[in-house]
Amino acid sequence: MSRPATRIVWGTLLAALLLSSSLGLRASGDAVQPERWDENVRLPEAVDRNPDPHIVEIDLEARVADVELGSGEHVQAFTYNGGIPGPLIRVRKGDRLIVHFTNTLPQPTTVHWHGLRVPIAMDGVPIHSQPEVPTGGSFTYDFVARDAGLFWYHPHVMSAAQVGFGLYGALLVEDPDEQVGVRDELVIVLSDIATDGHGHFEPPDSGGPAGMVFGREGNHVLVNGRSHPVLKARSGAPQRWRIVNAAKSRYFNLELDGQIFTRIGGDGGLQEMPDKSDALVLGPGERADLIVAPRRTKDGQPLVLRSLLFNRGYGSVEFRDIEDLIAIEMAPLPEYTEPVIVATHRDIEPLQAAGATPVQVDLTLAQKSDGAFEYGINGVPFSKAPIAARVGETQLWTVKNTTKWSHPFHLHGFFFQVVDDTGNPVHPLAWKDTVNVPFEATVRLLVRFDDRPGQWMYHCHILDHADGGLMGTVAVGVPADLHPVNHVH
Ligand code: C2O
Ligand code: CU
Repeated sequence: MSRPATRIVWGTLLAALLLSSSLGLRASGDAVQPERWDENVRLPEAVDRNPDPHIVEIDLEARVADVELGSGEHVQAFTYNGGIPGPLIRVRKGDRLIVHFTNTLPQPTTVHWHGLRVPIAMDGVPIHSQPEVPTGGSFTYDFVARDAGLFWYHPHVMSAAQVGFGLYGALLVEDPDEQVGVRDELVIVLSDIATDGHGHFEPPDSGGPAGMVFGREGNHVLVNGRSHPVLKARSGAPQRWRIVNAAKSRYFNLELDGQIFTRIGGDGGLQEMPDKSDALVLGPGERADLIVAPRRTKDGQPLVLRSLLFNRGYGSVEFRDIEDLIAIEMAPLPEYTEPVIVATHRDIEPLQAAGATPVQVDLTLAQKSDGAFEYGINGVPFSKAPIAARVGETQLWTVKNTTKWSHPFHLHGFFFQVVDDTGNPVHPLAWKDTVNVPFEATVRLLVRFDDRPGQWMYHCHILDHADGGLMGTVAVGVPADLHPVNHVH
């Protein structure tokens, strides 16, 4: 081949690459997976009964229902609309979501919309947002979904018990302008549940105080409510997985037989640019938006998405098993040979540490004189001292974990950016609402409070820890009654 010809070939290739990156993922806006590839895994969806294209209006009932756990075991679970997880709620960015919620559980509850920037009155926290919804009661949640991303919903009353008994579901806010280009998409709710093997839940306080200190994990790992579902795939063809960890204590350390995950987003939608890895840790409450193109293995065995052991502190890896989550069977189709180029991009403004108000949040664990353990914020269980914030203020939170267990730290209502030691947000930039604070480590984050006044919660999303004292509030644009602030001076 002569030199000029070579140059033309390279030029064409380069043009194709540039073109494909501006379009996101090349030539894969069509479905490329085998038919009914996800029928074993797909979530039921909530029914929109409003004809207005910009309003999604649904009924959601918290009720006791008989649920089969895949293992054949039946339990009387706490459910949304009869299933674990609850129905997938699908809206588009900017849509108004109206949820006619009724509670027929034998105890009060609420619905919290994890990660959504809703007004405080819609946040589902008793006292700060609304009264608890009693047995037989109802409440209408009504808000606009301002941000695209995978979110989720769960109760905020006796959370460890109620989430543990099955109350959680996914809420997907789609952005029609998003240029991802992968049609075959799956929402995956990872969770676990604790039963005694005979159709009864383990009592929420099983394991006593040590169980609280550690965080109780369930003994059945569930993928969209099933155990070990099978997904069909065409080798080499891209799939988009949108994953939420809805377990009350368990971390998932995902691995797919060494194959690559291209992460394009997380809690608050797309991240600045994709990054690749062959393992991914999701703490309770966190989400990931991944592109995977599973490839046939040499031996032809199904691929397995697994959760590897993960050290979240003292006693968390001993006597544990690797958990198989999803088996991926390759359909007898020719290898998909289009190049999989993931080139999503989102402009995210980095928050500035300069001028941000410093706030110190120590995650603590103490033993009381009667021997009982209590988690706390700056030494105070269920911190009574709200952090004060003005509307429009940016704060730099230093979250220091003084305990021997990791804590997935969650802030209600506002996204934050994780910053490095120099005070600059880490790249790829991403909006988060939940971040793992490893044991005996410190994580710093920048948050800007927009105009939604109220008392907003922050807490550990290991729900036993939250119920054990690891929670507090930030008073945004309202008097932080009593004790003013716990700012650093
Ligand atoms: Cu998932 Cu207080 O929240
Ligand atoms: Cu915790």
